[in-house]
Amino acid sequence: MSYPYQIKSFEEYQQAWQYSVTDPEGFWAQVADNFYWRKKWDRVLEWNFKDPDVKWFQGAKLNITENCLDRHLGTLGNQPAIIWEPNDPEERHRVLTYRTLYNKVCQFANVLKNNGVKKGDRICIYMGMIPELAIAVLACARIGAIHSVVFGGFSAQSIADRIQDAQCSLVITCDGAFRGGKDIPLKSVIDDALIGCPSVKKVIVCTRTRTPVSMLKGRDVWWEDEIKAVETQGNPSCPAEEMDAEDELFILYTSGSTGKPKGVVHTCGGYMVYANYTFVNTFQYKLGEVFFCTADIGWITGHSYIVYGPLSAGATTVMFEGIPTFPDAGRFWDIVDKFRVTTLYTAPTAIRSLMGFGLGPVNHKDLSSLRKLGSVGEPINEEAWHWFKDNIGKGRCPISDTWWQTETGGIMITTLAGVTPEKPGYATLPMPGIQPVLVDENGKEIEGNGVSGNLCIKFPWPGMIRTTYGDHERCRKTYFATYENLYFTGDGCMRDEEGFYRITGRVDDVLNVSGHRIGTAEVENAINMHAGVVESAVVGYPHDVKGQGIYAFVILENMSKDLDLFRKDIIQTVSRIIGPIAKPDKIQFVSGLPKTRSGKIMRRILRKISENELDNLGDTTTLLDPGVVEEIKRNRLS
Ligand code: WTA
Repeated sequence: MSYPYQIKSFEEYQQAWQYSVTDPEGFWAQVADNFYWRKKWDRVLEWNFKDPDVKWFQGAKLNITENCLDRHLGTLGNQPAIIWEPNDPEERHRVLTYRTLYNKVCQFANVLKNNGVKKGDRICIYMGMIPELAIAVLACARIGAIHSVVFGGFSAQSIADRIQDAQCSLVITCDGAFRGGKDIPLKSVIDDALIGCPSVKKVIVCTRTRTPVSMLKGRDVWWEDEIKAVETQGNPSCPAEEMDAEDELFILYTSGSTGKPKGVVHTCGGYMVYANYTFVNTFQYKLGEVFFCTADIGWITGHSYIVYGPLSAGATTVMFEGIPTFPDAGRFWDIVDKFRVTTLYTAPTAIRSLMGFGLGPVNHKDLSSLRKLGSVGEPINEEAWHWFKDNIGKGRCPISDTWWQTETGGIMITTLAGVTPEKPGYATLPMPGIQPVLVDENGKEIEGNGVSGNLCIKFPWPGMIRTTYGDHERCRKTYFATYENLYFTGDGCMRDEEGFYRITGRVDDVLNVSGHRIGTAEVENAINMHAGVVESAVVGYPHDVKGQGIYAFVILENMSKDLDLFRKDIIQTVSRIIGPIAKPDKIQFVSGLPKTRSGKIMRRILRKISENELDNLGDTTTLLDPGVVEEIKRNRLS
């Protein structure tokens, strides 16, 4: 495996970026030439952002798993593909070589086939971070089934919504998942979810925790039994389904400012090229290095930088089942030492939480194998950046602050480790192929440096969202209708005097809580479902560890109830409807909400109050009832 498209110097970066802008098709064709295609493309790119309609590598045929597995067998067969570290450090870790992973993926792909799965079927995956999760994902891709992985922190209701939206026919889950001191009963959550999901005909359950589960006759089968059945059939291999470059590879649900989460759709060819290109370049991967991305495969970061990016590059990827603070706050550093990790890719929220434990858990840990560090998911504050740089990277490892989104498929703006400059708080420069622009309210491009605006992208890239599942109009409205001929990211951004980009956070009603995207409307809907709640408004406020916390203002039918219990009941309700990750941190009961005369909630005012900027509320004269603002200010929760 070699990476001729790996950029080695700042000059090369500048040339590559320039070339990618003047001849995007030539640029991406050159990159794509390094993959295994059953048939090459007829056209590199066809696009318009109006519909939108974006097609990369049209006419090409491939299977992404042949690029992630088969093509490495000759030279890298005995190379570790996945190193898995269990939740409990006393349990043995597992190493899956490329050969082993290939065999297991083929086996499980045959299991899926035995259970009636066909190309194009949607498969919901709800598992903990065990190697079987990666195997399940790749097995779907092997036979052309579309996977929809749902993060373990979502509730039965959220899973049901996602299963129904995609009309999944099969669910892959575990009896339970270990996370820190907890044992999460995944199968039982699935059982609840499936009550309202007639499309699901089969559930495959992988054993992990030995938590008692109910297995429904005719519907539920054990992973292990199904594997045995395949073994007795005696066919260890599974031919890869030939896919069109633009066939759907997966759906991943993500929150926006309105309505329920939408299914972001990525396709086979473009996504593969982009995940690989960004992996190889951002982290300057060299064969033999050990790459540790601490995300969960339930999020896009796990899809692109635990599974598809690293494996398509023949890399060794570490998969960790547990959490950074179990059994103690030195766990990441133990893992780095144990596997001689060269690259650590994690989130600001994890860094901030570990900072809180001081240097005790870091001291005396051998971090000498580390060469490169990465950050993703939210803006990284300078304090966390320096702590990471000094205490983990020991001053010698470059940090790539990577900005991107579920919708972008891969990293968009970042430092290329050791190749392009870094700057605390800045994602810095665009990937080759990426053309960021800043626009003002009216969609007018703001040129030059030392400016701020809304971040848009003005030209397609291979990893970009193609549609939102089952509702193309929603995709158009959300991303391509705000500004003509631009993809709108929803983020605010500043470009400094040197041309470096700094992401300032969402400009819409999307919260980023511990790096998890949550829509304020979603949380409000969940709160409003609780009996006794009349109305609510949710805003984000700065939180030391989580980045943003959730502040809810709630009107009750009857304020004379036990308010403390009410608060707990509301939290319980949000957990049920969305999942524990969306629980409000603060709930303030109010008699009214600041609304305009046309009935719109003025969130701007609530946001200021939650941030304790009480003297700076702006114009409140247009409010229906300015009096409520005084009351809300008076009773503000600190
Ligand atoms: C935010 C995660 C600042 C941003 C890969 C974006 C960031 C949203 C960064 C996408 C970063 C992600 N600096 N903000 N390096 N990375 N974000 O879809 O607001 O879970 O729009 O994808 O996270 O979150 P998502």
